[in-house]
Amino acid sequence: MSAEIFDQLRTIQQDIEAYPVGNAAELEAFRIRFLGSKNILKGLFAEIKNVPNDQKKAFGQLVNEVKQSAEQKFEALQESLSKAALQEQADSIDLTAPAIPLYNGSRHPVSITLNRITKIFERIGFTVAEEREIEDEWYNFGAMNTPEDHPARDMQDTYYLKDSKQYLLRTHTSSVQARMMTTTKPPIRIIAPGRVYRNETISARSHCQFHQVEGLYIAEKVSFADLKQTLYYFAREMYGPDTRIRLRPSFFPFTEPSAEMDVSCFICNAEGCNVCKHTGWVEIMGCGMVDPQVLTNCGIDADKYSGFAFGMGIERQAMMLYGIKDIRLLFENDLRFLDQFSAAY
Ligand code: DAH
Repeated sequence: MSAEIFDQLRTIQQDIEAYPVGNAAELEAFRIRFLGSKNILKGLFAEIKNVPNDQKKAFGQLVNEVKQSAEQKFEALQESLSKAALQEQADSIDLTAPAIPLYNGSRHPVSITLNRITKIFERIGFTVAEEREIEDEWYNFGAMNTPEDHPARDMQDTYYLKDSKQYLLRTHTSSVQARMMTTTKPPIRIIAPGRVYRNETISARSHCQFHQVEGLYIAEKVSFADLKQTLYYFAREMYGPDTRIRLRPSFFPFTEPSAEMDVSCFICNAEGCNVCKHTGWVEIMGCGMVDPQVLTNCGIDADKYSGFAFGMGIERQAMMLYGIKDIRLLFENDLRFLDQFSAAY
């Protein structure tokens, strides 16, 4: 009996040595057969009671040796197979292949223009104030001296919230003036960039949403000369050192006196082109001295303080700067359009 068991062990040993392993699946079969939880060596351990006492030790050693040889073969094969797999992977990498280009994205032309404007005013001490787009009628119109019967208040021109006469999508960033004046003590020196909405038919030249930058400076003894000088500085920084400005008398309910500011056409150098409609001037913004009634509406002492304000659209400036012919392009997010601004910031 014991001789048979020893023979069985030797056969298993030969099996281990001869077992063909060329891939991962065969290695797994090897492991299950010789090292798994039901491996064939286990049965032999149960036979140990039939081995004569004087041979038990030798048998035990031999079983362990066979088991170890299975383990060693398994480890060696495992290593060589994973090396081969790595090599195969490395062989399949083409180091001369061109790299996949990284897509960097780009800033939107409206953001580029807005950032430029913001930076110019920040350099002379204006800070950025941002406010809500859903506004109370009082901040958008009432505080800004716009009478109840003013056409701008009409549903035809302004988006009111459903079933509301009080809440609307702000029609201009001038509402931020009222917000700032009611919450901050002068001196106030802010610009307020942001989105505004008007119930307009969408066309190549106008849209129902666009962006404005508002400016407000309130302190003691602020004069029209301060306004003019500030805007002149802005125009030259924005459109070049040779830019000239022109202030035309105008009307806004919240400023007195009011003006519109033109800059000399930077496309044709004021010689006349399509952009300036052959006038040599391009209208950029509305401005004026804050009406004392607006100061009073917002709780600021109009005898002590005065101020100027201005407001400009961003889209039209972006369109002029980049030669964009249709305002709708700015809101459609077509990557073929937006990609063209990847060099700008
Ligand atoms: N809110 C005016 C508009 O949307 C622009 C404007 C004009 C703003 C004169 C001002 C200002 O602050 O003083 O057309």
